[in-house]
Amino acid sequence: MFLSAAIRSAVSRSARQIRYLHQTAVRSGGGGALFLHRDTPENNPDTPFEFTPENLTRIEAIVSNYPEGHKAGATLPVLDLAQRQNNGWLPISAMNKVAEVLDMPPMRVYEVATFYTMFNRHPVGKYHIQVCTTTPCMLCNSDSILEAIKNKLGIKVGETTPDKLFTLVEVECLGACVNAPMVQINDNYYEDLKPQDIEQILDDLKAGKVPLPGPRNGRFSCEPAGGLTSLTEPPTGPGFGVRPDL
Ligand code: FES
Repeated sequence: MFLSAAIRSAVSRSARQIRYLHQTAVRSGGGGALFLHRDTPENNPDTPFEFTPENLTRIEAIVSNYPEGHKAGATLPVLDLAQRQNNGWLPISAMNKVAEVLDMPPMRVYEVATFYTMFNRHPVGKYHIQVCTTTPCMLCNSDSILEAIKNKLGIKVGETTPDKLFTLVEVECLGACVNAPMVQINDNYYEDLKPQDIEQILDDLKAGKVPLPGPRNGRFSCEPAGGLTSLTEPPTGPGFGVRPDL
């Protein structure tokens, strides 16, 4: 009530001009409470989890990369192995198992698993769709990609389809901004997307196919969409341009 008329008018003008920014939805990994674990029937310390013999061999190989007494350095890859073995998510019992095989206090493992959002602490569908909506993707209309997925699958961000095939999450930059807009589905990046591209990708996945990852607009990798403008010739051999008398 102490605002002058000029300030009030400026504030109301800028309020009118504020662009609608949607808040990034809570990831399924956080499940609404990023750092909290609450026991549930499907996720509690007694949830069955044992590494397979193949993964125990892999763990041995991973741990051997670290100096004596530094097994904890293997926390990330071993958590990743546990998640892959457990259909893409990490129950607390799997974290406890990781702590056991790496001789670490479980809390140290929880700290890592709750910090990195690529660890899903709740079940996810067979296809985990991560839609990037950070600025470069947003400017290339990632909202239309998100909408197309929501409409096609009939789920909202953070939800899984009833057939447990797809989980949809919204994420921050996935490091492929030059190919915006893009989504990550399991380990694959799908880039330079239009709504019809992502619809086709979802159809293919439903049909049991794995669509070809990469750009959908015909360019190779992240080369310029209009073709190369430099470095267009084959690279010259070693020593090119060096003085002949040297
Ligand atoms: S902003 Fe989407 S990949 Fe970087």
